Amino acid sequence: MIRLAIRLEAADAEIVLAELVELAPSGVEESELPDGRIEYAVYGAAGELPALPDLEAAAGGALVEIVTSEVGDDWDQRWKAFHKPVSIENRGQVLRVRPPWEDASAAADEIDLVVDPGQAFGTGAHATTRLCLELMLGLEPGGGCVDLGCGSGVLAIAAAKLGWAPVLGLDHEPESVTATIENARVNGVTVTAERFDLRRDGAVPTAPLVVANLLLPLLLDLSKAGFDGLAPQQMIASGLLIEQADEVSAAFSQAHGLQEQDRRISGEWAALLLARHAI
Ligand SMILES: C[S@@+](CC[C@H](N)C(=O)[O-])C[C@H]1O[C@@H](n2cnc3c(N)ncnc32)[C@H](O)[C@@H]1O
Repeated sequence: MIRLAIRLEAADAEIVLAELVELAPSGVEESELPDGRIEYAVYGAAGELPALPDLEAAAGGALVEIVTSEVGDDWDQRWKAFHKPVSIENRGQVLRVRPPWEDASAAADEIDLVVDPGQAFGTGAHATTRLCLELMLGLEPGGGCVDLGCGSGVLAIAAAKLGWAPVLGLDHEPESVTATIENARVNGVTVTAERFDLRRDGAVPTAPLVVANLLLPLLLDLSKAGFDGLAPQQMIASGLLIEQADEVSAAFSQAHGLQEQDRRISGEWAALLLARHAI
């Protein structure tokens, strides 16, 4: 778990906070420093926190100091207050992703998904994850699903809860594999997770649905490395900035006959639904 703090003059606080909340939708901790400056802190797994250049840009020219520190699991439990449940809705279905210390929703028709933040990327709060979940809620489940770059396993677990089977999560980080297996157990679903390096291990295991919340270079690598069988019937590609979406759409169309069916936007992020046949 990493704590990322941004320290600034009180006069700049309001404008910086407004920008910071956009970057860190799970919430921001605010405190006043002994020297009168304000500190805003966010907590999360490496990779899920706002990037330093984004933070500097958010400060809009204000003079800021950025401090990163690792906090252990036994650290002051205050950070828990900053991980709130996230609800995603599509086609009348609601999926609610929550940390283990928050109660399940009282609404019986909501799909409940528990993710312990801090182990690996994927609390559900990041726009790139939410866009994937939104697109997944719009699909009719039909067969297996592979989650490429599974992180915490949030997408793999959602797939299993929505009726896809079998579900396989792949990631090059051993921590992600462990987190996915543990989170699947807690959620009572069957998900297999294995180590797989998209840059080194060649053609990727395929399934009727492939979800890939990766950044542009990895998605382009994937379009070149291809699948170890038929291209998926449907694929969700996320982790793209809006201006990168056309390039990825064209790459999968040309290499695998996967045509764009839907494009969802949140802030600066875009996610694509691609399919082999119009759906
Ligand atoms: C943006 S996170 C997505 C996590 C989760 N699927 C979600 O949607 O919240 C990207 C994941 O890809 C994994 N990853 C990065 N490079 C990889 C590679 N070369 N091979 C396999 N996985 C990789 C990271 O470890 C990380 O867990």
